[in-house]
Amino acid sequence: MYICICKAVTDGQIRSAVQDGVTSMSGLRESLGCTGQCGKCGRHVKQIRDEVLQGAGAFSDGSAFTASSAG
Ligand code: FES
Repeated sequence: MYICICKAVTDGQIRSAVQDGVTSMSGLRESLGCTGQCGKCGRHVKQIRDEVLQGAGAFSDGSAFTASSAG
């Protein structure tokens, strides 16, 4: 699902960036471009980031997120 319309950034891209260690909003803006144009996606981007950081459960497509502590 597209979260950032301006930059065509999906929730999946945001989740994988956070999982790769990009945990700040400015880092996400730099790496994906989201929030940098109109800024309307900021709230959603932050929400998705927080979900991933909290290890909270499920992707929007219903697949499970498994936190990996190995490596
Ligand atoms: S929707 Fe993300 S910057 Fe406009």
